[in-house]
Amino acid sequence: MGDAPRSPADTLPKEPINLMRGWPNPSLLPISLIKSAANTALSDPDTAHDGLLYGPDPGYEPCREAVADWLTSFYQPAKRIGTDRICITGGASQNLGCMLGVYTDPEYTRNVWIVAPAYMLAFRVFEDAGFSGKMRAVVEDEEGIDLTYLRRELEKSEQAARKPDDVNQPRYKPVRKRAKVYKHVIYCVPTFANPSSRTMSLRRREELVRLARQYDALLVADDVYDFLQWPADLSQQAGTEALETMQTAHLPRLVDIDRALGGGAERDGADGFGNACSNGSFSKIAGPGMRVGWVEGTEKFAYGVSQTGTTASGGAPSQLTSTYITTLLSTGQLQHHIKTVLRPAYTLRYNTLMRAISTHLRPLGFSLLQPDRDVVGGYFVWLALPSSLTATPLAQRCKHDEDVVIGPGPIFEVPGDEEAAGFDGHVRLCFAWEEEWKLEEGVRRVGVVARRMLGEVEAGDGGYVVVEHEGDGREEVNAWK
Ligand SMILES: Cc1ncc(COP(=O)(O)O)c(C=O)c1O
Repeated sequence: MGDAPRSPADTLPKEPINLMRGWPNPSLLPISLIKSAANTALSDPDTAHDGLLYGPDPGYEPCREAVADWLTSFYQPAKRIGTDRICITGGASQNLGCMLGVYTDPEYTRNVWIVAPAYMLAFRVFEDAGFSGKMRAVVEDEEGIDLTYLRRELEKSEQAARKPDDVNQPRYKPVRKRAKVYKHVIYCVPTFANPSSRTMSLRRREELVRLARQYDALLVADDVYDFLQWPADLSQQAGTEALETMQTAHLPRLVDIDRALGGGAERDGADGFGNACSNGSFSKIAGPGMRVGWVEGTEKFAYGVSQTGTTASGGAPSQLTSTYITTLLSTGQLQHHIKTVLRPAYTLRYNTLMRAISTHLRPLGFSLLQPDRDVVGGYFVWLALPSSLTATPLAQRCKHDEDVVIGPGPIFEVPGDEEAAGFDGHVRLCFAWEEEWKLEEGVRRVGVVARRMLGEVEAGDGGYVVVEHEGDGREEVNAWK
């Protein structure tokens, strides 16, 4: 018997699906709220003038107040977050660059320690600040960071730095009262990490702050996904009720711990700058094109950020959009949007993706990390591949055969320290960007490709593909067997 006749749908080009892109789906953007906030701001001459002229260095004052109040009610720290702890930024990426400019010296600062797998677009920011060749990977463990490894390597780095005299002073940064130069930077995404979606335990957070204090390290936490949280494993009904109870953060940030632990930055012998900052962003909860965020740290630290050269010259970044954010936060509209639109939508999207993974990928040997958490969130799911598959060829074949883009693990490896933490056995899937039906269909297609490749491996057959993989910057001619 011949093959069944092909349906016309089989011959049509497949709809492209992108499970790599970490953007919010356009349907989740609060366009009408932003439009009316813009209207409010621009209709009031005082606000319009404030928004359209150069702003104060730490940012638009009403915006700092609104952010401080909002963060206080979400994170519920023991003490209210004062406005002076907040500096308005142009988003987490821009601010990372500013903070490195102010608080590091490419020679005196020994290393940038990056929890890996890591947000890959941060690497270039570190390189631009002079840290190419000084980035070190610290692998995640079950609780979010392997601190035994980090402690040992920090110690080695300190020993090595003791030898030459010239690294005992910052070489490229003048002495400035408004800033200091840290000896180390530790970069991480403690909650719903990109790409692994892991959350660091409370115990590790406390130990990490202690370690940072011991080694004069600045902890930079990209806390950009904290607000997007939901219960891991509940029926839709119970999930909706449980969402009601998730209006506050389920763990303190590193910056909260650094503030509270043992007298905080005012303890005896401390210099007042603190050892942790929270690098926040409105990209994932309002819209990345707003290019606005905030950083929280000690008052001294926040002031130092505000004195970065580009701000001292041009005023706070995103001055106009921060007037819109002020309205969105002070009226409660953004909080309402997060509660009634984003969390329910991401819960559904996450569940759709997880169901598709259970149906199409787990039977092939794909597995999930941290499967037994109560609270999940963020944008991503990180999958371990069956042992006979590797990520780059799989991603290339997915694109080539099925027009579905996935994030291959190696792009999340720390450049120059790939040996310490390699991820050729992992892929990242994002559930924020594509339409829901495409999440299901995309995973089904990944399953089709994986099954085919597993069959080829079993049959001892080899494939040879030459495919440019979108977005990873490492076009490869890849042979696989
Ligand atoms: C961990 C992390 N940090 C920073 C960013 C970018 O933030 P922003 O848009 O505020 O620059 C992202 C976006 O994907 C991210 O995942």
